[in-house]
Amino acid sequence: MIGIFDSGLGGIFLLKELSQQFPKQSFIYLADRKNFPYGEKSSSLVRSLVKKNINFLINQGAEHIIVACNTASVTLRDADSHQVPVKGVIEASLRQAKKDSLNKKVGLLATLGTVKSQVFLKKVKKLNFNLQIYQQACSLLAPFVEQGGWNINRHIAKNKELDSLLEKYLQPLINKGVDTVIMGCTHYLYLEPAIKKYIGKNKKTVGPVNFLIKDLYRTSQLLYGPDSLGLNKVRIHSKKQEQKNKRIRTKETNNKKINIFINGQNKDFGQQLHQIWEQKKDIPISIKII
Ligand code: DGL
Repeated sequence: MIGIFDSGLGGIFLLKELSQQFPKQSFIYLADRKNFPYGEKSSSLVRSLVKKNINFLINQGAEHIIVACNTASVTLRDADSHQVPVKGVIEASLRQAKKDSLNKKVGLLATLGTVKSQVFLKKVKKLNFNLQIYQQACSLLAPFVEQGGWNINRHIAKNKELDSLLEKYLQPLINKGVDTVIMGCTHYLYLEPAIKKYIGKNKKTVGPVNFLIKDLYRTSQLLYGPDSLGLNKVRIHSKKQEQKNKRIRTKETNNKKINIFINGQNKDFGQQLHQIWEQKKDIPISIKII
């Protein structure tokens, strides 16, 4: 069982992607909404929340943990030891940026906490990546998403509030000449179509999804042997293959479970989840309020 947590809806985006890639795997998700937004809290406070969340997921039976929040991933240290593998999302996004950027000028949209930590800049140095990172703190963007903005791309062609936020946060990066923009907060993944539209076709947006999947697959194989994540019939697919395999995957969801725990504000949470999952109503999702 894979455990995932975030301060709210951001990590649900990753949960959905991962649960589709690992069709036989069960998941447990914690939405720590009571403590949203992590991005405006001190790193020592976020670190203590991260420890608490990891312990919660381990106690619920998680065998792998994905910290589906950049601000929380900032506080993970190489020297930390946990009972199960714990992975953040920062390196995965940087690897994608390295792959996709041609001019090596990369913009970073992230929370204030992530920007202040300079973790992306430090990691680039450590990994010896030839990338110039331009940071942009976006304090208003995660709250915008959490308060309903996650749904914006589906229903509203134009939204004034989003337009002005995107201008405020993206224009400085465009002025620097970046050709790639990192979604450095999982909440922003919902806004990727709008961000793409704003920056134009000659620039790219990148996030952690692809490298996270590859890494999870590799780690689980090393630790538990082949097919430990139920990937024997499913490889990492292109969008076209994804469509082709949809029918097979739906059959394979029969014995998997997705348990979602939420604290804090939970009004309409179930309805939001089903909207995020769209047509995948057959997936057995259970929601517990804690
Ligand atoms: N989803 C979190 C991240 O990836 C940020 C949201 C928050 O500020 O709590 O950084």
